[in-house]
Amino acid sequence: MSATSGDAQVSHVALLPSAGMGHLTPFLRLASTLASHGCRVTFIAIHPTVSSAESLHLSALFSTYPQIHPLEFPLLHLDAMDAYKLADPFYLHCESIRRSAHLLLPLLTSLSPPLSSFIVDISLASAFIPIANKLDIPSYILFTSSATMLTLFAYLPGLIADAKRIDDVAIPGMQPLPASMIPPALHDPTNLFTKQFIENGRALLQAKAILVNTFESLEADAVAALNGGAVVRGLPPVVAIGPLHQPAARPSGSPGRTFAWLDAQPARSVVYVSFGSRTALSRAQIKELGVGLERSGCRFLWVVKSKIVDREDGEGLEELVGNGLLERGRGRGKGLVVKGWVDQNEVLGHGAVGGFVSHCGWNSVVEAAACGVRILAWPRGADQRVNASLVERSGLGVWAREWGWDGEEGAEVVRGEEIGQRVRELLGDTHVGESVARVREEALRASGVGGSSYEGLADLIEKWRA
Ligand code: UDX
Repeated sequence: MSATSGDAQVSHVALLPSAGMGHLTPFLRLASTLASHGCRVTFIAIHPTVSSAESLHLSALFSTYPQIHPLEFPLLHLDAMDAYKLADPFYLHCESIRRSAHLLLPLLTSLSPPLSSFIVDISLASAFIPIANKLDIPSYILFTSSATMLTLFAYLPGLIADAKRIDDVAIPGMQPLPASMIPPALHDPTNLFTKQFIENGRALLQAKAILVNTFESLEADAVAALNGGAVVRGLPPVVAIGPLHQPAARPSGSPGRTFAWLDAQPARSVVYVSFGSRTALSRAQIKELGVGLERSGCRFLWVVKSKIVDREDGEGLEELVGNGLLERGRGRGKGLVVKGWVDQNEVLGHGAVGGFVSHCGWNSVVEAAACGVRILAWPRGADQRVNASLVERSGLGVWAREWGWDGEEGAEVVRGEEIGQRVRELLGDTHVGESVARVREEALRASGVGGSSYEGLADLIEKWRA
C-alpha cells in the first residue's frame, strides 16, 4: 500500500475530520505532524461546515504546510434533513456527512499513490470505517476528547442495551463517573444524538487502532484500562499521541492589536478567558463575567464569540459588557476584550499569559497543559465536566464545581464578585503553579523525540511504510 519515492517508502494517509473547531484543530495538527514525519497527507476538507474564521485558518494551515493536500468532500444539503431540524447542530452536521459517506468511495480509490491508511473522526466512524475496510484500506479513529471519555464511549453500547436512563456509571478499571458528569444528552438512550454515539462506540471495534490526543502520564489509568481489556473486550490498541500541539507561529491572520497588547504585559500576569468555539453564555452571565474580570484586579484577555453575542436580538458586545470595559480594553488598561476569534494556541504560548478561565473543551485543556497555563475550569456542557475533573486531578488547575452548567436545574448566574475572587486566587496559587509546570514538562517529554506519544505515532507510521 505504500508508494516508493526515490529509495524511501512513502506512506499516504487520508484524514477525515468532523465539523467544528474542536474536531478540526486536532486533525489539522495530526496532519502537519504526519507530514513532518515524511508522510504524504491528504486532508478531506468539508468546507460548507466551517465558518469563515475557520476556513481562514484552514487555508492558512494549508499554505504553511505545503505537504498537505486538501481534498474537497461534497456534502448533502442540510435542508434535505427536515426530520432532524430540531436536533443539535453538531448532530446535524455529522448526520449530513454520514449520509454522504457513499460519495467518499470514488475519492478514496482515485488517490495516488494508493492510501496506506485512513483516519476518521470518532463522530463519523460508524459510517466510514466499513467503507475503508471494504476497500482494504487500514482504518483508524482519531478520538478528539480525553481517554477517560473514550472509556465511556467504548463502554456505553453494552450498558445501554437495556437501560432506560443512564445515571452513575462504573467502568471497570476507572473511578466511578457520577450521573452529574455524564454529558447531558447521553442520559436518554432514545435521544438521536445518543444513538449516533452508540453506533460510533460499536465502530471502535472495527478500527485497526484508536488514536487519542492525550499523553500517558495525564491519563495513565484510562489508557491502561482500555488497553488491558477491562473496559470492553476486543478493543483495538489505544495509542496516546498527544499533545497534538505545535509551537505558536504568529499567522498573518491574527489580529496585531491583541499581541501588541500581550507583548506589553509582564510575564504570566494575564488571565485568558474563552469558552471554545461553540459554547454560549447567557447575556446575564456575560455581564457578570465582565464585572468579575474588572473586580479581580488582574490583567485579562477576554474573547467573546461574536456569533453568540450578536445572534439573538442584535444587541452588541458594547452594550453587553457595559461599564466602559470595552473602551478601557483598547490596549491601555488592565484588560482587553476581543470580539470573535484569536489564535488560542498562540495566546496560550505567549509568555504574558499565566491563567485560563476555560470551559474545558478537550483541546483547550491539552493546549494549556502544553503551554504550562493554569486553568480555572468552568465546564458548560458535553464532555467538559469529565475534562474538568482531570484538570483538577492532574494539578493543571482548579474546578469551580459550584458554578453549575448550561440548562442545569437550579443553575444560577455566577456573580461577578465570586468570579473576581476565583480569578485572583488562581493567579496567586503557588501550589497550582508548581504542578502545572510539572504537567507541562511531562507533556513536552511525551511528544518529544523518544517520548511515549512520539514513539506511539512513529510505530504506526513504520507499520504503514512496511
Ligand atoms: C467541542 C466540545 O465543546 C468540547 O467539549 C470537545 O472536547 C471538543 O469539541 P470546543 O467547545 O470548540 O470543542 O472546545 P475545544 O475542544 O477547546 O476546541 C476549540 C479549538 O478552537 C481549540 O483548539 C482552540 O485553540 C481553538 N480556538 C477556539 C481558537 O483558536 N480561538 C478561539 O477564539 C476559540
